[in-house]
Amino acid sequence: MTDLSLSGRVALVTGGTRGIGLATARALAEAGATVVLTGRDESRAKEAASAAGAAAGLALDVTDAKAVSALVRGVAKEHGKLDIVVANAGIMEDALLGMIKEELVDTTLSTNVAGTLHTVQAAARAMMRKKSGAIVVLASIVGEYGSAGQTVYAASKAAVANIARSAAKELGRSGIRVNAVAPGVIETDLTSGLSEDAKAENSSRTPLGRLGRPEEVANAIRFLVSDEASFITGQVLGIDGGLVL
Ligand SMILES: NC(=O)c1ccc[n+]([C@@H]2O[C@H](COP(=O)([O-])OP(=O)(O)OC[C@H]3O[C@@H](n4cnc5c(N)ncnc54)[C@H](OP(=O)(O)O)[C@@H]3O)[C@@H](O)[C@H]2O)c1
Repeated sequence: MTDLSLSGRVALVTGGTRGIGLATARALAEAGATVVLTGRDESRAKEAASAAGAAAGLALDVTDAKAVSALVRGVAKEHGKLDIVVANAGIMEDALLGMIKEELVDTTLSTNVAGTLHTVQAAARAMMRKKSGAIVVLASIVGEYGSAGQTVYAASKAAVANIARSAAKELGRSGIRVNAVAPGVIETDLTSGLSEDAKAENSSRTPLGRLGRPEEVANAIRFLVSDEASFITGQVLGIDGGLVL
C-alpha cells in the first residue's frame, strides 16, 4: 500500500508565488497537507495561496534571518507543529567571468545560500521538539556539474546541496530528513529569459527530448516529504529528463 497522503501535516513552502514553489504548494495541498506559502509581496503571496489551495500566503524575504525565524515559529505556533518545509525561494542571474558584479554575488549568495540556511535552521528548531520532520531544498544540476556563464549561481547551488547533506547528517538522529532536488531546465519565470535557440538546444540534449514542467519537480518533492521516502535522507535527486547523462 502506498502512503503518499499528507493528510494532517503542516507544510511551509518559501517562494511559493510562482513556478516550482507554487506547483509544490498545490501538490502538497492536494495531498492533504495544510500549506503556508511565502513570497516577498504579501498580496502576491495571498493570491498564490488561494490559487494553490493553501491555508495562507505570507510575506517573507528569506535573506532576513530574523524574519524567517519569526515566521517559521509563528506557523508552528498557529498550527501546533511544522512537519514539512520546502526551502524553494531562489534567484538566478547569468554573468560571464570578468563581468560579475559584487552586487550579483551578494544577492545570489544571500538569497540562495543564506536564505536556504536560515530556512533550514528555523525548520530544524521547530521540528526538533517533535523529533520528526521532512525538509527539501532546491539545488540544481548546475550546482552539481557547473555551467558557463553561471559561476555565481552554480556556486550557490553547490552550497545548497551541501546544506542538505550536512543537515541530513546532523538532524537524522532527531528524526528529521533533509533532501535536495536538482532540477534541470524547468519552464518557469526563472528560465523565461532563455532564447528559443537555448531552449531548443537544451531539449535536444535531453534524452526525454523536452524541458521540464514545475509540476514534475513538485511531484518529486511531494514524494520526498511523504512517508514513502521514510529511509531517504541526504540525497540530491536529479529531475532533468536525463540531461546530465
Ligand atoms: N526553473 C529551473 O529551471 C530551475 C532549475 C534548477 C533549480 N531551480 C530552483 O528552483 C527554485 C524555484 O525556481 P523557479 O524556477 O520556480 O523560480 P521563479 O519562477 O523565478 O520563482 C522564484 C520564487 O522565489 C521567490 N523569491 C525570490 N527571491 C526571494 C527572496 N529573497 N525571499 C523570498 N522569496 C523569494 C519568488 O517570490 P516573489 O518574487 O513573489 O517574492 C518566487 O516565488 C529556485 O531556488 C531555483 O534556483 C530552478
